[in-house]
Amino acid sequence: MACIVIDGVAMEVADGSPIIDACEEAGVTFGCRAGLCGSCVIVIESGMENLEAMTPEEENMGLAENQRLACQAVIRSGTVVASY
Ligand code: FES
Repeated sequence: MACIVIDGVAMEVADGSPIIDACEEAGVTFGCRAGLCGSCVIVIESGMENLEAMTPEEENMGLAENQRLACQAVIRSGTVVASY
């Protein structure tokens, strides 16, 4: 199992899974859920290397180096700590 921590709330997710459901349970709010609106931007505090590479939608969003879209990001394994 992998672990995503959002604003101090730790959620377990299967290795290789999208983090959207865990982030929603931890309080992230979503709009489009398709990588277009930017409402789900999270700041990765540690464990960026445990996320899969950015999707084309994330690349098009013009995110900072420490930001990801919670509706797009997929966790490989290990722990990712983020804030919203
Ligand atoms: S919910 Fe719109 S970009 Fe993630």
